[in-house]
Amino acid sequence: HRYCVIMCGGVGSRFWPYSREDRPKQFIDFMGTGRSLLQMSYDRILPLVPKENIVVVTNAKYAPLIREQLPDLLPHNILLEPARRNTAPCIAWAAYHIAALDPDASMIVAPSDHLITGESIYCDCVRKGFEFVESKDALLTLGITPVRPETGYGYIQIGPKVTDDINKVKTFTEKPNLELAKVFLETGEFFWNAGIFLWKASSIINALRRYDTDLTVLFDRGEGLFGTPREDDFIRQNFGACPANSIDYAVMEKADNVYVECAGFGWNDLGTWSALYDNSAKDADSNVAQGGSLVAYDSHGNIFVTPNGKLIVADGLKDYIVADAEDVLLICPKADEQRIKQMVNDVKMRF
Ligand code: GDD
Ligand code: MG
Repeated sequence: HRYCVIMCGGVGSRFWPYSREDRPKQFIDFMGTGRSLLQMSYDRILPLVPKENIVVVTNAKYAPLIREQLPDLLPHNILLEPARRNTAPCIAWAAYHIAALDPDASMIVAPSDHLITGESIYCDCVRKGFEFVESKDALLTLGITPVRPETGYGYIQIGPKVTDDINKVKTFTEKPNLELAKVFLETGEFFWNAGIFLWKASSIINALRRYDTDLTVLFDRGEGLFGTPREDDFIRQNFGACPANSIDYAVMEKADNVYVECAGFGWNDLGTWSALYDNSAKDADSNVAQGGSLVAYDSHGNIFVTPNGKLIVADGLKDYIVADAEDVLLICPKADEQRIKQMVNDVKMRF
């Protein structure tokens, strides 16, 4: 049977001051559609996987938010992590949990905070992906054609063609430095890793056994407990001991059965204010205003976000982020947005 695992435990600090530790970006309605990024991720998978097989993995402190935003999700399909350990332990737990319920299960692992357009292309792509991994011991990732030397993504070098849309992966490099990213972009042989994975639960467990033994030794101690009422206790006692690591470093860079399917749908990681700007409707002066109405003079290329329908009046402002949250007002040139992480760090108490 097919399962979906939605990873929902990130903090999204570059979207400060909207994204906050107690309400990270995946819980926010960034597109003004009435649905948060998490809810959009859930809606997107509904046509592909039976509702009772949709599992959300998140930090324990977000349990109330998950219940509020996804009231249809079965309560026992919310896996609550007692500690933040990045995506490898998150995926490992989900895979052990699902394999205990159904040893032949296949699963899609999806982030909760991306923007995807072209739903029908997405559905076709995921269906083909499921068929592929169900017929083969393969770790499949979806690949996006890169458009800039972004250093925040994984880069996938394609090898021989296996089907019309799927290639064997030659190399996988997580978050290269800028120099390397430029080289990758120029060769034309690379995809970005969309961070959406498909595999059989047994395939990812086998790969973890081979490449991240610390993790599987720990989870193997819980044999017989997964999928039972005793699973939660086991996790509460042991999850904290998992080394923090992402699945990209732990498995994808190392495994030799990695494949990539070219994803033709619109994809955006929606990691920063500029990404939101790029993906939002703009007025005649290329300004984006969300949550309020804008009167602007001689202002261009800005993104204004405000709660509660405020009137925003701007004069002479170019390429700025103005993010007006309840208790923090951020004013920052779009070009300096990578500094927001540092700013959050400096004002830690307000995150
Ligand atoms: N449950 C849980 N627990 N979820 C987590 C955790 C955790 O500890 N940490 C992160 N997540 C969730 C995030 O909310 C997000 O939806 C997803 O897992 C991916 O984590 P990110 O932290 O956003 O990863 P990234 O963006 O740096 O890198 C990944 O995604 C890129 C594409 O967006 C990698 O897979 C890259 O290779 C890829 O290019
Ligand atoms: Mg991300």
